[in-house]
Amino acid sequence: MPNCSTTYMGLQLRNPIIVASSGLSKNIDRIKECEHAGAGAVVLKSLFEEVLAQKDFGLKEGTVDHTEAYDYYLAHMELLYGASDYTDLIKQAKAETAIPVIASVNCVSGKWWPDFARQIEGAGADAIELNVFATATDLTFDGRRMEELYYEILSAAKQKVGIPVALKISPYFSSLPNVAVEFGQRGLDGLVLFNRFTQPDIDINALSLKTTFSFSSRDEVHLPLRWTALMSHYLPYDICATTGVKTSEDVIKLLLAGASSVQLASVLYKEGLESIAPMVAGLEQWMSEKGFESVADFRGKLSFHRADDAAQYLRAQFMEKISEVE
Ligand SMILES: Cc1cc2nc3c(=O)[nH]c(=O)nc-3n(C[C@H](O)[C@H](O)[C@H](O)COP(=O)(O)O)c2cc1C
Repeated sequence: MPNCSTTYMGLQLRNPIIVASSGLSKNIDRIKECEHAGAGAVVLKSLFEEVLAQKDFGLKEGTVDHTEAYDYYLAHMELLYGASDYTDLIKQAKAETAIPVIASVNCVSGKWWPDFARQIEGAGADAIELNVFATATDLTFDGRRMEELYYEILSAAKQKVGIPVALKISPYFSSLPNVAVEFGQRGLDGLVLFNRFTQPDIDINALSLKTTFSFSSRDEVHLPLRWTALMSHYLPYDICATTGVKTSEDVIKLLLAGASSVQLASVLYKEGLESIAPMVAGLEQWMSEKGFESVADFRGKLSFHRADDAAQYLRAQFMEKISEVE
């Protein structure tokens, strides 16, 4: 039987499948279910920075700098935890499960949460994933400043904690490889490619705005696949691929591209946690068929720097494929 264990940010995972931050990991019963279903690790439902800002500083809605993001989150996301509930959940998860537990903080700035990161570490979390997203609406806020916001957030976390720190980012960077290398220089341990967002919409009858939510589709896996393949070879830290991962075939592709692990949410909501076991079995079977004894035997084998026809990763407007449809 091949060994499908892997390491992610120095953590030992029995297999590369991580339950992504979501309601699937929001309480101890669900975390135990994830472990029981065979997950390699779990990322807890995010604690939102706004909760810390409110709790620690008595802020009222609207007094945080990032008012748009603040209103958005309060209106559309469930604020599940207070800060102490969160550390209690980490302690309980560490006491009652054996898989790595990665805490998650949803950050819009480096302001409120870095001190709390220490409490997360003190509670026993194996790592922290920082889910960063800021919308540039200020015309003077240029691309470099946006990147610096990420660097500040990362540096603030690295100064506070000794456990590994991952960044979960969006694909919207003008030069992601450059930014990814700078993350490495600031001590990043893992990069999660990519976060998936709710999207705005307009109700044309009510003449009002609304927010949409949908589970990811299988086609979405190609974006993390491309960027994992393009960057995995030279980054000094691990890539964890997420968005659109549905089957063992997707998991295998992302490992071949160079990911060390993958995160799943939508498929687990739609098909249940019981879909993890067949995915692990599919990975093991494929490894047996191909003669790979460990994940290290094939991880990154088809990354941009190792694949024979690597230019495929660059063809975003591939005339031959488009003309097949035309
Ligand atoms: C219901 C739901 C809740 C989520 N909540 C969070 C969250 O609190 N923090 C976060 O970083 N990502 C959150 N996500 C995003 C997932 O962690 C994941 O990155 C995204 O759904 C892409 O993976 P998928 O294609 O397997 O769904 C959520 C996703 C879903 C479906």
